[in-house]
Amino acid sequence: MNVIVAKDYTEQSRLAADIVGKIVREDPCCCLGLATGSSPVGMYQELARRCREEGLDFSQVHSVNLDEYIGLTPDHDQSYRYFMDSNLFDSINIDKKNTYVAKGIGDVEENLAEFRAVLAKSDVAVQVLGVGPDGHIGFNEPGEQLYYSAHQEVLDESTIDANARFFATRDEVPRGAVTMGVGEIMRARKLLTIISGSNKENAARQLLMSDVITSHCPVTLVKLHPDSTVILTEELAAKIGYVG
Ligand code: GLP
Repeated sequence: MNVIVAKDYTEQSRLAADIVGKIVREDPCCCLGLATGSSPVGMYQELARRCREEGLDFSQVHSVNLDEYIGLTPDHDQSYRYFMDSNLFDSINIDKKNTYVAKGIGDVEENLAEFRAVLAKSDVAVQVLGVGPDGHIGFNEPGEQLYYSAHQEVLDESTIDANARFFATRDEVPRGAVTMGVGEIMRARKLLTIISGSNKENAARQLLMSDVITSHCPVTLVKLHPDSTVILTEELAAKIGYVG
């Protein structure tokens, strides 16, 4: 695993944008695996700036997202479709027809069948990952077992707590989501994990300070991928005692 310690969130975002930008330049028709949450927002802003000011071209790029809340319409301001449009797609020259975020409304099984079919035909060049405070990736919550393929998850109470900050009340946070499975995440040619936020110490410690790979902390699986990069800040590295 390639671990990069960045000075701060700005540098972390710039380094992550370097990795994704290089892939887009080298393969303008690539498929990007994208993530939501606060962690990749700075990288998305930097990619948008490079598109605007430096001609980074997304016109032929495809994308597929990790997950979506069940019960939110695409135009709900907390849906992950809305997040992707407002944090990235509306600011770059991507053709939205080439972007895929799983459906959160309608028949869950049908939506999952469609999601799995999209993933089966996608050759993801890089999968961007954030990490939940409980170590989840996408919405693969910790537990006795993980799932290979796209499936429905019941969100952990700690995930509902963490994501409540985006909703008017905690009660409005959806209790379920559809998510890529860990097998589909691992099929990407490259993984790029961005660990950011004060509540990530536990997950970062399990990933970087322990040799254990466990379904009780799904992010530990990224150690198994042959081309896996993790970027964290100096502040977080210092808190967990990571020296490289
Ligand atoms: C949500 C998403 C995850 C994301 C996590 C962390 O739960 N489903 O994919 O990694 O949030 O979000 P943040 O980066 O805001 O801490």
